Amino acid sequence: MIITPLPDGPLEVSGANIVKDQDGNIAKEGEKAYLCRCGFSANKPFCDGSHKREGWTSN
Ligand code: FES
Repeated sequence: MIITPLPDGPLEVSGANIVKDQDGNIAKEGEKAYLCRCGFSANKPFCDGSHKREGWTSN
């Protein structure tokens, strides 16, 4: 698994990975996932693009 913070955007998780929800259920399984780090996503823990609308920056 490789985790890469994208500029002014989510964390890109690449490689075979499984993301589980707080109850331990599989929320996503695959080669890539984009995890929100701005706090504005309505689909946490995943990025839904809200960081752009909110003008969030990683700096
Ligand atoms: S990083 Fe994209 S919605 Fe939060």
